Amino acid sequence: MSHFESDVLWNPAWDTGRGRRVVSVAEIRAFHESIPGYAPTPLVSVPAVAAEFGVAHVLVKHEAERFGLPSFKIVGASWAVNAALSDVLGLAPQRTLVDLQDAVAPLRGRAALTTATDGNHGRAVARMARELGLDSIVYVPDEIASARADAIRAERAEVEVVPGSYDAAVRYAADCAARSAEDGGLRHVLVSDTSWDGYTRIPLAVSDGYTTIFEEMKAQFVGLLGSAATIDVAVVPVGVGAFASAAVNSLLGCAVVSAEPTAADCLWRSLEAGKPVVVPGPHGSTMAGLNCGEVSYNAWPVLAQGVRAAVRLSDLEATAAVRELAGLGIASSESGAASLAALRRLRLDARAGSLLRPASSVVLFDTEGVTDQVAYNAAIARKECLGHG
Ligand SMILES: Cc1ncc(COP(=O)(O)O)c(C=O)c1O
Repeated sequence: MSHFESDVLWNPAWDTGRGRRVVSVAEIRAFHESIPGYAPTPLVSVPAVAAEFGVAHVLVKHEAERFGLPSFKIVGASWAVNAALSDVLGLAPQRTLVDLQDAVAPLRGRAALTTATDGNHGRAVARMARELGLDSIVYVPDEIASARADAIRAERAEVEVVPGSYDAAVRYAADCAARSAEDGGLRHVLVSDTSWDGYTRIPLAVSDGYTTIFEEMKAQFVGLLGSAATIDVAVVPVGVGAFASAAVNSLLGCAVVSAEPTAADCLWRSLEAGKPVVVPGPHGSTMAGLNCGEVSYNAWPVLAQGVRAAVRLSDLEATAAVRELAGLGIASSESGAASLAALRRLRLDARAGSLLRPASSVVLFDTEGVTDQVAYNAAIARKECLGHG
């Protein structure tokens, strides 16, 4: 077995029937549509890639711009902020952003939204706080790129650097929220996208929020290829697995393939072991949004049986995919390009033919545009050789 084949794991526990139906899909979509600037992100066909891979279609769902932010994250964060603040107020989730803005009026000057982040989720929570006239406190790991931390500050958040990895920042934010429970919890209304035993409801709302992305994609797919076409393979970048679990729940019957950095391969290792495995930091991958060492508690049971194959990647492969996408006119970060890199890696595996057939349609979720222009320019300028393919 070559080095490259060893980084594809065919999930021994995979079960086609897995997935949890999200009941409030229409309600969630209506809430998103009420936010000014809502527009579906594009689903772009890349026929040259399909021809190279010997499949019928490869399509890229490109999450480069959501409400003016450069990743998909606010789609989950906005619904979860709605859920968290409605909980505080003892109300059901609000139907529109305006309803939520009205409802939270008594909390202004008293409540702050809080979370830990590698960049995107925290920026999205901070943006929501700003929209609602609330404060926000965002905990970031010390390995975060300064451009990503500055972008969160630009949303008027208080940014606190926590020594250690993203997972350490998650624990720190949870401790602060637990301590502030003594003053009614208002100083730290926690909106985490990862979950743990005892904290599941709001992270579930994050992942439910992502269903809008999959609903958009399904409609666009039918628009492009007709209602007889099936989505056979979906490749998703994984950090804590909230987005991937939404993919499994939303795309029943489709083979979901996960993409992770080798430096932070917590899902890959957990699937291999058949139980959650922690990968201690620092992780340090250039796939910055994917630098997570623990699979979310909510996501694990969904992914344990719902992921068909897991792929782990080097930074070199992700950067090569950034360049390849740039050549196709798609500007994305390493985290977003990981799905194309994973497809390349998958194709080298002896069993890939079972998924990548001549009639197959593959959707790559490219979850982030350019968040750090200097790093992006450097990635495009680099000329490393991968030595495979
Ligand atoms: C750009 C990007 N893609 C993918 C992910 C992975 O999402 P999750 O942590 O839900 O697995 C993240 C997480 O922060 C991200 O920022």
